[in-house]
Amino acid sequence: MPGLSGLFIADLNRAYADEWLAVYSYTHMAQVVTGRPAAKHLAGLLQETAAEELEHQEELAERIIQLGGEPLADPSKLVEASNEGYPTPPAGATDFEGIVKTVIEAERGAIEVYNKLAKKTAGKDPITYELIVHILGEEIEHEDEFENLIS
Ligand SMILES: [Fe+2]
Ligand SMILES: [Fe+2]
Repeated sequence: MPGLSGLFIADLNRAYADEWLAVYSYTHMAQVVTGRPAAKHLAGLLQETAAEELEHQEELAERIIQLGGEPLADPSKLVEASNEGYPTPPAGATDFEGIVKTVIEAERGAIEVYNKLAKKTAGKDPITYELIVHILGEEIEHEDEFENLIS
């Protein structure tokens, strides 16, 4: 039933915008802390996580297209098109705790978004549901990994 699955295109596009914003924010934070020896581990984890958000962005784009939609084309619209807005990095590049908290907050937002989307697609669109559950699992791992840095 392509008509029914098409209902999820707008939701998927909002998540797509969130993923791009996370890629930008996490990559930026990795870059500004890189070279500071105390932050080597943090920089590595930010880079790895950004790479997975980029995969999520790709997977969402693929599904949006399969459903007959178009992924958002205009990067100047990313913030307003997103669920969560931009995960704004802390002012200081050496504010490691601030960086970790920025990621944790973004990951919690993502978990909420994908939880809702999983409920919405369950029993209606199995392919989208499987994708959402897969992404949700990785967002839960991300949140855990950054939680472990400060606990
Ligand atoms: Fe993600
Ligand atoms: Fe994530």
